[in-house]
Amino acid sequence: AAAALPFRGFDALAAAPGDAAATRPLAFPKGFLWGSATASYQVEGAAKEDGRGHSIWDTFSHTQGKTHNGDTGDVADDYYHRYRDDIRLMKDLGLTVCRFSVSWSRIFPNGTGSINQQGVDFYKKMVDAMLEAGIQPYCTLYHWDLPQALQDKGGWENRDTAQAFADYAGYVASKLSDRVKHFMTTNEIRSFVELGYREGIHAPGLRLDRAKVAQIAHHAVLGHGLAVQAIRAKAASGTRVGLAENPTVTNPAIETPEHIAAAHKAFREENAMYLSVIMEGRYTDLYLKQLGADAPKFTPEELRTIASPLDFVGINVYAPTYVRADAGERGYVMITPPTSFPKMASPWLTVGPESLYWAPKLIHDLWKVKEMYITENGASSDDVVAADGHVYDTDRVMYLRNYLTHLQRAISQGVPVKGYFLWSLLDNFEWADGYSKRFGIVYVDFATQKRIPKLSSQFYADVIRRNGLG
Ligand code: NOJ
Repeated sequence: AAAALPFRGFDALAAAPGDAAATRPLAFPKGFLWGSATASYQVEGAAKEDGRGHSIWDTFSHTQGKTHNGDTGDVADDYYHRYRDDIRLMKDLGLTVCRFSVSWSRIFPNGTGSINQQGVDFYKKMVDAMLEAGIQPYCTLYHWDLPQALQDKGGWENRDTAQAFADYAGYVASKLSDRVKHFMTTNEIRSFVELGYREGIHAPGLRLDRAKVAQIAHHAVLGHGLAVQAIRAKAASGTRVGLAENPTVTNPAIETPEHIAAAHKAFREENAMYLSVIMEGRYTDLYLKQLGADAPKFTPEELRTIASPLDFVGINVYAPTYVRADAGERGYVMITPPTSFPKMASPWLTVGPESLYWAPKLIHDLWKVKEMYITENGASSDDVVAADGHVYDTDRVMYLRNYLTHLQRAISQGVPVKGYFLWSLLDNFEWADGYSKRFGIVYVDFATQKRIPKLSSQFYADVIRRNGLG
């Protein structure tokens, strides 16, 4: 059974009806959606069960030296078997939405061709459990676990993968759109292209040259566009389609007009091969100029596909970057942060709360997007279970409170963010970091699979109950 929240006394907190009065400080709009996010390989486990095919993350995590401690997602949070209890935890916290991802190789064990009905059935049952709990499911179709059979044919280096992805996405939408209204094509194209095919620190662990990586990025955004079209062709009417991308968030060094203008320019250029091309249907001139002969090969028709209209844009927001205005041709310079910049447990996770203001605001300003979600935001902490059995993650609470304050600031200025998905409900398999980095608001003892809601889960439940921070 789901563990009860460890702390009592919600009722003692300031009287706060679910629908915040707009006048209350730091209130969110009525109907704002509060959720959590997960991904198949990071939580499900059951890696060999019910006909699931092999994915690149199975291969990578089972290759010596690739993940912390040799950790794998074979068991992870055992969510495949425990999802009912975990959904009850979500309900106890007051979540009204949940973002999950489908494992491609559970549906098509070989990436294309024959269908594994047991995989389809699993997601139907799991989604039904969410609906029964009053939680609306948001489905991501690609959260990095590419079927190994497709990697054997070149993975995202091969243009055919883009089409295979669209076929799979359309198929899943045809099966789930009677119960799932929101679909996201890809999760963090930037990450899986750059970490997987350039840095080699994520699956498939390749270190390819600049031209190849640019072509892979092109195939990935094309896969997104083709998938948007396939979902629209196959899904029930009323289905809403978007993606979850992690743009480089270019915060202005200080909030003066010239640095803000630099931040806009930098945002468009730094994300040229991902969000910008998806929103505009063109690679920026600067991007193509910088790549020169290494620029990707593409056709005008592909660009139109990549820019297929979306119903919403989801963004994953974590670490900031900072830019300042500059008199040079570019108009901006990225600032190298001082080594003293505050960080969470993951070395890359510098703390820049205003990112949750600037990321949606820059997107809204640049591309007039009408519906946005924060599809991920959260933090890793060096959590310890205290002698009394609780986990007092005050640093995560600090992080969330500050980021959410800036999200509220954006929304109160009219930036149309409709919901927030905290990463993550549970501690889980943090890719190359294995189980060494904990992002959950619920602690998982991986030896026993026991769940212990942390202090941050009480904080989040209270934010949800008040629909705000004030
Ligand atoms: C983004 C990724 O989508 C997710 O899989 C990962 O665990 C979190 N960031 C934290 O690093």
